[in-house]
Amino acid sequence: MPHFLDIAATPPADLRAMLDQAAAMKAARAGRPRGAPDDAQPLAGRIVALIFEKPSTRTRVSFDVGVRQMGGQTLVLTGSEMQLGQGESVADTARVLSRYVDLIMIRTFAPATLRELAAHASVPVINGLTDASHPCQIMADLQTVEERLGPLAGRRAVWLGDGNNVCASWIEAAAAFGFAFTFAGPEALEPDPEVVAAARAAGAEIAIEHDPARAVAGADVLITDSWLSMHDDRNARDRRHNLLAPYQVNAALLAAAPDAAVLHCLPAHRGEEITDAAMDGPQSAVFDAAENRLHAQKAVMRWCLGV
Ligand code: CP
Ligand code: NVA
Repeated sequence: MPHFLDIAATPPADLRAMLDQAAAMKAARAGRPRGAPDDAQPLAGRIVALIFEKPSTRTRVSFDVGVRQMGGQTLVLTGSEMQLGQGESVADTARVLSRYVDLIMIRTFAPATLRELAAHASVPVINGLTDASHPCQIMADLQTVEERLGPLAGRRAVWLGDGNNVCASWIEAAAAFGFAFTFAGPEALEPDPEVVAAARAAGAEIAIEHDPARAVAGADVLITDSWLSMHDDRNARDRRHNLLAPYQVNAALLAAAPDAAVLHCLPAHRGEEITDAAMDGPQSAVFDAAENRLHAQKAVMRWCLGV
């Protein structure tokens, strides 16, 4: 079953083909109204369940719009309004939904929930973010970097801040696409060592740095994210902010990497992990990446369904 659960769980050649298809689909509908159908309607007759156990703006809207553009239909569900939120098992939810829909996208907490859903579903499952990873975001980010800089191979991406779920998917992408990746953040918030070890074992060049200025010199891509993720303990906010403050993406940092594209998966906390100048300046590819969620995920859904 072609589930899209993680970057590292998907064959690199398939990821490559998805990015190419995403770029082609984006170009083919340039200038059309958002609601205009694509020329091809590969999801005609298909229905996609979009399940959210955490809030979402981009994932929710981009999946819904993408399905509609490809001729399919969506059901947008929140965990709390399903029996899932009342204790029905993930496995039974998977079995039942598989009788109604053709594809399931879920945003959830523990990665084990995603895996259990996929294990018991007889239709493909897409990871719309867990506490551990966010592969759809990274597909859009990679599409955006290629638009700006051309081929990814041989480039160096630098992550600034918390070694979180989005960072983990970037590390997996470094192995799949052959670019170097530097994590720059506090020791206490380094990425999962198992993710780092797996990427290195797959041939990726992954560096761990604590000095932000040294990390970013000559970088091609600078990436940051919220200092407090949806799954993080709110009480840890002040401690995390103190640890992460030196890694803010701001004008001083950008001066050390003047050709780098700046990415943030959003939502951003302006003035915390990233300044207005960095978000809105010429190096920012932030809103292009937000748009590319739509195009990249359309290719992911086509891959899952083989259409
Ligand atoms: N970047 C991202 O996944 O945004 P949402 O939380 O709004 O879906
Ligand atoms: N790391 C963030 C990403 C949000 C899209 C979170 O998990 O909250």
